[in-house]
Amino acid sequence: MSELKNKTERVIALLNEAVRGYAPVAFANSLGAEDMVLTDLIAKHQPGIAMFSLDTGRLPQETYDLMQAVRARYPVPLHIYFPDAALVEEYVAQNGVNGFYDSVELRKRCCHIRKVEPLHRALAGKKAWITGMRREQAATRGSLEISAFDAGNGLQKFNPLLDWTNAEVWEYIRQHDVPYNKLHDRFYPSIGCAPCTRNVTPGEDIRSGRWWWEDPQNKECGLHVGKITPKDKNQ
Ligand code: ADX
Ligand code: SF4
Repeated sequence: MSELKNKTERVIALLNEAVRGYAPVAFANSLGAEDMVLTDLIAKHQPGIAMFSLDTGRLPQETYDLMQAVRARYPVPLHIYFPDAALVEEYVAQNGVNGFYDSVELRKRCCHIRKVEPLHRALAGKKAWITGMRREQAATRGSLEISAFDAGNGLQKFNPLLDWTNAEVWEYIRQHDVPYNKLHDRFYPSIGCAPCTRNVTPGEDIRSGRWWWEDPQNKECGLHVGKITPKDKNQ
């Protein structure tokens, strides 16, 4: 069996394990390349997993186009969560629509309002959540575990693509004709909000286009911080 087939089988087994041991399970779908692999696998093998996306209100048009393509292609619903309007209005009144460029603190506050608070609502009542994070994506992700208790959010967290390479993600997308964000074809390997994402030059780190003005050792949006306790070191 090819390495990709092996890894795909392991992801399917992990999705099954998550549903058996931790239902109800939610999948946080940013519509990035990794998450499109998971979208395809979840739709085919575990359609009962609740798929959701956090619409910050500042996403690129290409991401909205992909949301629509996912809706047309897959029978599983993609639930979209929006930020609390009153919190956004207060932030914008105090700091301006692009206040997140003014300091790291204001950037994190914007991410908190537009992503972290809606994430808490999306995860309420769930026993586990699934992300598309990979170890090789960033300096902050080297010690990720495939399954661990996420004490910050109070539920189990699965990272099924943890050991996948970027090439394997794309091999899967091509083999299964999975829809993907057209910005990836224009040198945007990692895509978040439009004002905080730019393209990279070949050879540059894949997350270097995210919050490019900040220190790579610390840049995370707040969705993935907090104490994580590995369930099983051997996994
Ligand atoms: S992050 O810093 O924005 O979180 P990245 O784009 O690499 O980094 O996303 C990592 C994982 O976080 C994704 O695979 C997905 O599971 C989750 N995630 C990030 N952004 C969103 C979003 N807007 N909606 C749902 N899930 C998201
Ligand atoms: Fe705000 Fe930028 Fe964070 Fe999006 S990525 S929530 S625009 S600071």
